[in-house]
Amino acid sequence: MEHRRLGRSGLSVSEISYGNWITHGDQVERDQALACVQAALDEGITTFDTADVYAGTRAETVLGEALDGVRRESYELFTKVFWPTGPGPNDRGLGRKHIIESCHASLRRLRTDYVDLYQAHRYDPTVPLEETLRAFDDLVRAGKVLYVGVSEWSAAQISDAVRTADELGFDRIISNQPQYSLLWRTIEAEVVPASRAAGISQIVWSPVAQGVLTGKYRPGQPPPVDTRATSTTGGHFIQRLLGDDVLARVQDLLPVAADAGLSPAQLAVAWVLQNDNVASAIIGASRPEQVHENVRASGVKLDPDLLARIDSVLDGVVVTDPEIVG
Ligand SMILES: NC(=O)c1ccc[n+]([C@@H]2O[C@H](COP(=O)([O-])OP(=O)(O)OC[C@H]3O[C@@H](n4cnc5c(N)ncnc54)[C@H](OP(=O)(O)O)[C@@H]3O)[C@@H](O)[C@H]2O)c1
Repeated sequence: MEHRRLGRSGLSVSEISYGNWITHGDQVERDQALACVQAALDEGITTFDTADVYAGTRAETVLGEALDGVRRESYELFTKVFWPTGPGPNDRGLGRKHIIESCHASLRRLRTDYVDLYQAHRYDPTVPLEETLRAFDDLVRAGKVLYVGVSEWSAAQISDAVRTADELGFDRIISNQPQYSLLWRTIEAEVVPASRAAGISQIVWSPVAQGVLTGKYRPGQPPPVDTRATSTTGGHFIQRLLGDDVLARVQDLLPVAADAGLSPAQLAVAWVLQNDNVASAIIGASRPEQVHENVRASGVKLDPDLLARIDSVLDGVVVTDPEIVG
């Protein structure tokens, strides 16, 4: 497993990380979840991503159990705050009260004294940016959070955050966590250039498009059983990627992957890692075998002819508009 630096910070992350959205505490039973984390550790993944809101906070609890006993210095733990974790008006968003309280609750569930990266899961237009950044900075000063980042922020929001932090003497954000895959390239036009200028990396989510880029969903056919698309709880998130036009093009991608000596999922993960503003691709898994397969994308170099062939196969079905939020 290769490692990359997160933005201009001193933090190294594994270029493939493991995340537990939809799976832990939800689609996947406890034993299977623990086996997936063990597979990730066995494969040299050191970076783990979760969020307070995943599975109604249960995902953090499962990850905390899975990593219990693992030497804390040997892995990087990322979580997030923003989406509601309770019924009250202060159980959500990026106000100081919720940020501090949610961080404390995450640390308890994750069984740790600090997280390596604390991320604003979305932008909150109802709270002054200065209040959010000050609360984050206080968590850094208190040693509960080592670095701060954001998720799905626009180029303008990222630039504002950097300018405000510099003016007020706070630590800068070092990362953004957007959706990015062969099918979803909305960050390329604006977010990546703004991030590069500010020394910020992308940690990208759903690099396999939630399983779509494996080719297992076929046009005109019902989704295979026991997949994310058939999950009664998290299955709705994948629906907009399941149009027959997209699925047909993904089938055309299968020989391209085979010619490169890669499985379709490996090609998908390797593709996002060709972008040097991407520090890590966060993979999900419902089974340990998926982790073992997908990590083989680490260190793979895709040549320009192959990249051009991919683009020609997918022409017309790739989402690129920076105004579309994942
Ligand atoms: N910041 C945000 O707003 C945000 C949003 C979403 C996700 N994330 C982060 O990104 C992480 C990854 O997201 P993701 O789970 O959507 O990533 P993904 O790697 O694109 O999709 C993972 C899912 O695809 C299927 N899959 C993966 N590899 C496969 C293989 N080799 N063969 C067959 N099926 C395979 C599995 O689902 P099935 O087996 O069930 O079909 C697996 O659970 C999350 O856990 C979270 O940490 C962040």
